[in-house]
Amino acid sequence: MRLSERQVGMIQDSFKKVLPISDAAAQIFYDKLFEYDADLQRLFKQNMGDQGKKLMQTLAVAIGALKDLDKLVPVLQNLAVKHLDYGVKVEDYTPVGNALLFTLEKGLGNSFTQELKQAWIVLLKVVFNVMRQAAYPDFDPITYKNIKRYNI
Ligand code: HEM
Repeated sequence: MRLSERQVGMIQDSFKKVLPISDAAAQIFYDKLFEYDADLQRLFKQNMGDQGKKLMQTLAVAIGALKDLDKLVPVLQNLAVKHLDYGVKVEDYTPVGNALLFTLEKGLGNSFTQELKQAWIVLLKVVFNVMRQAAYPDFDPITYKNIKRYNI
């Protein structure tokens, strides 16, 4: 699965619109994440404001580098392995992805079109597959069934 140049451009433009409201976006994201899955709160030990900033900064770097997705792969792999120490399980990526889509929808309003949403879904699938493969040896993207599902 690959992102087209058009999809990369759309994602980058859309994220630029979220950056100025990144504190609010991070708040929406965590509220939704913990609404989806209250158990996940136990994993987060840091101050949520700092955590939110780190999340937005990391996303900004990743999204800036999207034209060269291959260079991102080792970064994502290391990040995923670190997340094992935080207690993140393979199925926890799903609520994170859904909470992120919800945040984009709230933050961008009408400009979060179906086409843009599809582009983000492709991106999240690619990123999460790389991370899950790096951290969970049994993970197979073909046969993996989400046991957590949420409607955004
Ligand atoms: C796109 C995927 C993700 C990105 C870019 C990301 C980014 C980050 C970053 C930058 C940190 C700071 C520490 C570090 O550098 O290791 C972090 C910590 C953390 N992340 Fe993620 N993460 C992702 C996915 C997830 C998922 C799926 C979960 C599951 C709930 C999660 C839960 C956590 C937790 C619990 C911490 C530690 C917080 C603490 O110590 O209080 N992350 N993440």
